[in-house]
Amino acid sequence: MTEAEKLKIGVIGLGDHAWQSHLLPLREVAEVQVVGVFDPAPRAQERARAAGLFVYDSEAELLASVEAVLVTSPDRFHAASLEAAIAASVHALVEKPLCDSSQDLPRVRAALGEAKQKGLVVSSCHPRRFDPPFLWARTELPALVDRLGPVLDLRFDFFYHKPSKQGLHLGLLLDHANHEIDLVNWLFGATSFNAYKLYDSELRYAACGQRDDGLSFSFFGSRTLERRVYSELLRLRFERGELTIDTERGIATVLDFETGRLEEEACGTTAYAERFLKTNEDFIAACRGGASYLSPEELLINTEIGIALTEDGIYRHQAERP
Ligand SMILES: NC(=O)c1ccc[n+]([C@@H]2O[C@H](COP(=O)([O-])OP(=O)(O)OC[C@H]3O[C@@H](n4cnc5c(N)ncnc54)[C@H](O)[C@@H]3O)[C@@H](O)[C@H]2O)c1
Repeated sequence: MTEAEKLKIGVIGLGDHAWQSHLLPLREVAEVQVVGVFDPAPRAQERARAAGLFVYDSEAELLASVEAVLVTSPDRFHAASLEAAIAASVHALVEKPLCDSSQDLPRVRAALGEAKQKGLVVSSCHPRRFDPPFLWARTELPALVDRLGPVLDLRFDFFYHKPSKQGLHLGLLLDHANHEIDLVNWLFGATSFNAYKLYDSELRYAACGQRDDGLSFSFFGSRTLERRVYSELLRLRFERGELTIDTERGIATVLDFETGRLEEEACGTTAYAERFLKTNEDFIAACRGGASYLSPEELLINTEIGIALTEDGIYRHQAERP
């Protein structure tokens, strides 16, 4: 592929996540040319120049020079950058959440509508969909349902190291509930549901909910550990058994309530590099005409849940009729 044929991509907001989870993986994607970045912080600009990246003076200049953009600035800037990208006819991967207040939601909805009309891709970053333990769970689910009956309840629990920065998000719930509900909908398909906030702070959050198909779910997360780790436990309670997935150990434990038997299987550990590479690859492939792994409806649910629970403590999602 010649340089001219490569997809020209830019970055708005060159912080830690943009480097680690987008620019580093994109080095392995041959059909992409990262043309430059926009970031108002001198430190980020220096870092960009040191890496040989062109630094634009404004977002508008960057958008005029690219076919696709990664919006990796803090949450409160996402909606405006999404609007600007779609107005400039540029595909956009916007970090989660797509906005951080109910005031900005109509702007996001309008931008998604305009993107659809223009045939532009809007994506985001939910790497669990490309992560071995969760792929294992999704693949094994039908056989487990055959054996243990329908899934009645999902519990998701994460325990991470202390955050390296403060004030990036309004709370851990807004930062994370998007990933958790995305996992529920990816495993079981999107449907109508109610969700409720139980607790939220910068270091801990808890929420629960009930889907109209009868599945209940609860999310719990904390960021208080000294050791640097992204550990997660997924528990699925079937009618006649339970599956627990431990992403740090890469072990799936199945307890059969009828026989009392406990079985362990290797399900793979979280593969950081791989899951972000695949998230970026999916966006590039979608920009080239493929189907994005995230639908506009999923993008909206994932953003709305965090905002509604943060602001009102309750969220009702009414699924679109097929
Ligand atoms: N999907 C995931 O798994 C995941 C993981 C971590 C972070 N994130 C998301 O990535 C985003 C950035 O997080 P981070 O940890 O890299 O933060 P960060 O603070 O390290 O980086 C943000 C960068 O944006 C720049 N910036 C500030 N205002 C800007 C503006 N108006 N326009 C352009 N750039 C601006 C800052 O100077 C900084 O360099 C957040 O929205 C966060 O939710 C997603």
